[in-house]
Amino acid sequence: MPGKKIKKLKKIAVLTSGGDSPGMNPAIRAVVRTAIYHKIEVIGVKWGYDGLIKNITTPLISRSVGGIINRGGTILYSARSKGFKTKAGRKKAFNTLKKHRVNGLIVIGGDGSYRGAHELHQETDFPVIGVPGTIDNDIAGTDYTIGFYTAIDTAIEAIDKIRDTAVSHNRLFLIEVMGRHAGFIALASAIAGGAEDALLPETPTNITKIIKQLQNYKKRGKVSSIIIVAEGDDAGNALEVAEKIRKKAGYETRVSVIGYQQRGGIPSALDRILATRLGSAAVEELINGTKCAMVGIQTNEVITNPLEIAWEKKKPIDKSLLKLVEVMSC
Ligand code: F6P
Repeated sequence: MPGKKIKKLKKIAVLTSGGDSPGMNPAIRAVVRTAIYHKIEVIGVKWGYDGLIKNITTPLISRSVGGIINRGGTILYSARSKGFKTKAGRKKAFNTLKKHRVNGLIVIGGDGSYRGAHELHQETDFPVIGVPGTIDNDIAGTDYTIGFYTAIDTAIEAIDKIRDTAVSHNRLFLIEVMGRHAGFIALASAIAGGAEDALLPETPTNITKIIKQLQNYKKRGKVSSIIIVAEGDDAGNALEVAEKIRKKAGYETRVSVIGYQQRGGIPSALDRILATRLGSAAVEELINGTKCAMVGIQTNEVITNPLEIAWEKKKPIDKSLLKLVEVMSC
């Protein structure tokens, strides 16, 4: 992927786009500090691609990113830009980059953000590097995305508390976690939270089978059960699944949707380290002349992949982990 080395990489831009994730700030910090280390100027673009279209930028120096390694959210703010989906919007964005004499763009976000970056590159040949920042962990080309582990920690904290009341009242709880169309958060939360089952978009959900399992647990003396439902599950959201179980088996259930808490909070150590490694690697890629790629982590090595991998390849869930949920719930 390295192209012709850019003669003088003097100035780069960084933005965060799409749903925010804990760890975006450490990633911004890593971009800025690595660039400054190499005597490259940095501007931050606020409000994602919308800010690029509207020319809302701010110079970023080393001190601008001081004290943010432990802050959730993103100091650059984020948006899901409709304007950038149009050619006219991307042209305006390109003009902003030219106006600031920037010669590389780093986009911290998910697959939707990568598509935009790819289109910009196709139309203008402008160098773009993607850094995977999303709680969903649904990007092929990286084992983990920035924010995923913090989101799981948040989910686990909630699940642990719900377990206390589930046991006290001998109840079945359905807990819905985020993930859009992917079940990574649900699967990891189910294992770490000791749940009885995880309903994922990647596998068909069978209500009859769930009811049979619940009956078996009862026979074996289990006093309560927790089922994690991924928001994109084919059987519906947690409330709908609860209703299906009630209608079929008459079981009284309680539902808890963890929701947007999963997007916020202090980034975990794992996410801070990942964000620092990937943010720094993104700058190095621009220095090395890479024109259009994403950085990622695979078996603990920083790697690069074509940006297209994010939407052309579906990242599979590890089915052996789902089996592990079943084994652990016996
Ligand atoms: O992609 C992150 C995510 O939090 C998903 O888990 C969820 O489906 C979606 O974003 C929510 O999007 P919005 O911020 O637009 O409500």
